[in-house]
Order: sequence, then structure tokens, then C-alpha cells
Amino acid sequence: MPERAILGRHSNQEPLRYLESCPIYRPTPLHDLPGLARRLGVAHVHLKDESRRLKLLSFKALGGVFAIAHILRAHCSQALGRTVAPAELLSEEVRRIAASMTFCCATDGNHGRAVAAGARLFGARSVVFLPEGVSPAREEAIGACGAQLQRTGLSYDGAVAEAQREARRHGWILVSDMALSADEPSPRLVLQGYTVLVGECLAQLGGSRLSHVFVQAGVGGLAAAVTGFLADTLGRARPVVVVVEPRTANCLQASAEKGTLVRLDRSGPTLMAMLECGQPSAPAWEILSRHADFFLSIEDEFAVDAMKLLARPVQGDPILVLGESGVAGLAGLLAVSADPNARALVGLNESSRVLLIGTEGATDPGRYEEIVGISPEELAHGVAS
Ligand SMILES: Cc1ncc(COP(=O)(O)O)c(C=O)c1O
Repeated sequence: MPERAILGRHSNQEPLRYLESCPIYRPTPLHDLPGLARRLGVAHVHLKDESRRLKLLSFKALGGVFAIAHILRAHCSQALGRTVAPAELLSEEVRRIAASMTFCCATDGNHGRAVAAGARLFGARSVVFLPEGVSPAREEAIGACGAQLQRTGLSYDGAVAEAQREARRHGWILVSDMALSADEPSPRLVLQGYTVLVGECLAQLGGSRLSHVFVQAGVGGLAAAVTGFLADTLGRARPVVVVVEPRTANCLQASAEKGTLVRLDRSGPTLMAMLECGQPSAPAWEILSRHADFFLSIEDEFAVDAMKLLARPVQGDPILVLGESGVAGLAGLLAVSADPNARALVGLNESSRVLLIGTEGATDPGRYEEIVGISPEELAHGVAS
């Protein structure tokens, strides 16, 4: 399937139409980090801060909520025999139909929050299948958004398979951020939702031309949305894209090396827990295999350095509270900056303008404090020394 059938230059327009009727929608900030740029020997570092996206603490809100809105609208239009407008999705008429619908997904964190919150927003039910090892704080956050939780005791990939089986058995609607085939509709909608953040970045940059994007990946959905949208929108003027994964779960890098989608025999634990995936999503791989320039895998210690660096920033830069997976793009930039060969290979130099995406806030505050040595609340109140 050509990637333009998955994403295209205007792919952010439909999700935006839904979001614009949502009272809490605001573009998230794009921070300029001149101190960090000086330290790393580049001209500019911009960081898109998704830590407060739709009050759900991560960019994932864009994908899950949009996918549910889109599916619900199609379902209601068919049930009512007329076209339901995006603005009608919060009406009583739609809620009555949604009340009989159940959305489900498998997740180790942020996607589950988005699906649960999206279902609740429109009056539907949600069931979230949790893989083993989800931290109690993340589990609690998903439950707090109204989801019924199913602890599978399986790996992430096992939980995905379990969610698919259960959805078929009960007639639930699976909203997945991962697909084994490029034709499955919900992962494509999820990708499309993510393009909103890329469109916002381009508007916020006001024509300044990016040279590089360092974007973190689990199954590759975010990286694909960023890469595909930039390729379609900017063409040859698009930046170099570096896809960053944990060393122990580098399924995209392994796929790039083999030239075909690869499932890792085993993926190991990583501090960047949201990125611990053993198999790329097929539609994401479709895009990344054509357009991503580099696949980089990093050790956890770079993520620790990145979190600390944002919490106690270089003078003049804002304090930013981002979680372990949220900083992985910056962690990749730190790794490349520290290695002259890697720096030369990706073409990073004193005139580079780099975009990073801070994909989550402190979604597990206890773990954040263990790593950084100060709690997110204290940082918010300016107690950092
Ligand atoms: C905070 C965060 N960053 C990045 C990612 C990676 O996204 P993807 O799995 O689409 O590659 C995830 C996935 O859950 C995430 O939660």
C-alpha cells in the first residue's frame, strides 16, 4: 500500500476538525532550548512538549481519541441514516448510541489512557488489556480514565493478540496503535491523529527550516506520522529523520538492517518502558522503510541524562518535566553528539536546527523522582537547585 494512502499532506485536517470542537484543545508548546543547543554545538534545539496534551500527559491522546471519534461518527452516521457532524459527537443522541459500544486495546500505558478517556468522553465503555510489568501508577491512571482493566500476564505482543481475540469474541471495537498488516483501519487512524502535532510544529516554526528530527519509537507509529507527514508536506526540504529506540527493543533498527519487517526473538526490559516493543507496526514500517534516514538504538543511561538535563537545564532554558520514554529523542541526540563519527554520519553541525518531541510528562511520578532525584511537583514549584 503506498504510504500516501496511509498519510498525506492534509492528514492532520480531519483530526483538527474534531479537536477544534473540543473545548480543552490547545496546540502544545514548542520550546526553544538555546542553552542546550550551545552545549551540543548546534544552532537550535526545539522541543515540542506533549506533557500536557489534552490533560492526558502524552501525545498518545491525539491518536486514541481521534480514532474513537472517527469510528463513532461513522457508526452513528450509519445508524441514524445521515451524516453526523464532528460537533455532534458530544450530543445526547450520539451518547445513546455510544452507550452500547465497547472500545478495547492492548497497552502498557499511554495509549490505554487515550482510549479510555476517548470512550468515556463520548459515553462508550472501554476494556484495556495490560501486558506484564505495567507499573501500578500507570495502571491506576488508565483505570482512573474509566477503563475496565484486564491483566494478561503476557508480553506486549501477547497482550495485543489477546485483545484481538477478545474483541472478535465480544464484538468490541479494537483501537490498536499496532497492526500486523498495513490495511487494518484503526492503527492508520491513530497515526493520522498524531500528525496534528507535526502540523502544529510547522506552524510554530513559522517557516524556519529544520535540518534534523530525532524521534523515539516503540512500534513506530509516532515516528511514521512525523516522517510521513514531513515528507509529504516538505518534500525535498524535509529534515533528516533519526528514529531512536532502546538498545534492548530495537525492532525497527533490526528491520532496517534486514530490509524487511522483523520480529525480535526477544525484547528486553528498558527504562524507556513505553518503547519496549518487539515488533514494528506494519503501516508504520511501510512509511519508515521508505523515508526514515537513520535508525539509532541507545542505552538507558542516555535517557537518564536527558531527564536530568531537562529538569536542571542549561542556563536560560526552561525547566521541563518529561518521563523516561518522553525524553528518548533527546537521549538519541545526546548519544550522537557525544560521538564524532555518528555526528558526522547524520550531518549534525553548528548550523543544524533540531526538532525533538517530548512525548510524555511524568506519567509515573514515583519513578521520575527516583531517577531525577526531585519530584515533578517540586520542579513545578521551582524547587530545583
Ligand atoms: C511516551 C511515548 N513516547 C513514544 C512512544 C512510541 O510510539 P510508537 O509506539 O507509536 O512508536 C510511546 C508509545 O506508547 C509513548 O507512550
